[in-house]
Amino acid sequence: MDDVPRPVTAHDPQSARGPLVYRQTIWTRVTHWVWAISLFFLMLTGLQIFNAHPALYIGDQSGFQFENNVLAIYAEKTDAGTKGYTEILGNRFETTGLLGISGDRPAQQRAFPSWATVPTGQNLATGRVIHFFFAWVLVGTLAVWAIAGILNGHLRRDLVPTPKDLRALPKDIADHARLRFHHTRDYNTLQKLAYAGVLFVALPVMILTGLCMSPGANAMLPWLPELFGGRQTARTIHFVVMVALVLFFVVHMLMILAAGPLNELRSIVTGWYRIDPQQAGKTEA
Ligand code: HEM
Repeated sequence: MDDVPRPVTAHDPQSARGPLVYRQTIWTRVTHWVWAISLFFLMLTGLQIFNAHPALYIGDQSGFQFENNVLAIYAEKTDAGTKGYTEILGNRFETTGLLGISGDRPAQQRAFPSWATVPTGQNLATGRVIHFFFAWVLVGTLAVWAIAGILNGHLRRDLVPTPKDLRALPKDIADHARLRFHHTRDYNTLQKLAYAGVLFVALPVMILTGLCMSPGANAMLPWLPELFGGRQTARTIHFVVMVALVLFFVVHMLMILAAGPLNELRSIVTGWYRIDPQQAGKTEA
């Protein structure tokens, strides 16, 4: 998606298939895969780091003696054996086998199970090294994506929703609900909102709240944790945005499967996307 006229392959009017159009530039494709891999490792190492102190708080204080706890995952001995519990805003749920206590031969008392963390065993030091490595890879990739996107017009043209897009939102929601997808060169309104939400809001908030937890960054930018309501609130926001990104990922995969996985994958790997036959005239430059 750049400023040069879009190359479109010859379209055979007899064919039921529309033409291929060049939809994703090399900058969009390479940065997409680097941040997808980075987020995969950031999540699994993040859960490893969380396991070292499996509770979240609001404000600046942390510890079970305070009453600012919003989430805790733990194991507790009961008459029926050791059980795993997850407590969210004072509501307690039994989560034996998944959260608090998991695995067999023998069961392990850990917040997130070994299959959900990197490394799989309890190893905070290695988890932190990998987490910080991919955090900086993500920062660099987003910077490259933003500079390329400003220069080639991708951000303005493809991601920022226009008033026309917003007027089309109710119809777009209805189309998605009926799994009716239009294959056009441009993103539809829900795609624009979801991608812009990830790239302009979720990932920057993730990076800033991550910096709030770094003592080095605290010394340089002491006002930053205050901006997020305190160091512990920043950690809680970091966790909540991680959950939101996991939900985005699940919906992203379902939408790709529903819209035609081969065409979608071809566009994010090679750049070429097959549009609907009736869209052909509208796309040709
Ligand atoms: C952490 C995981 C992922 C995140 C956060 C993510 C996020 C995004 C975002 C923000 C875009 C828009 C990029 C832009 O226009 O600049 C995008 C596009 C796309 N992503 Fe992902 N993605 C992830 C993983 C994946 C995976 C695993 C696949 C494939 C199996 C995939 C397939 C696609 C496709 C096909 C598009 C283009 C959609 C289209 O052209 O309609 N993504 N993704």
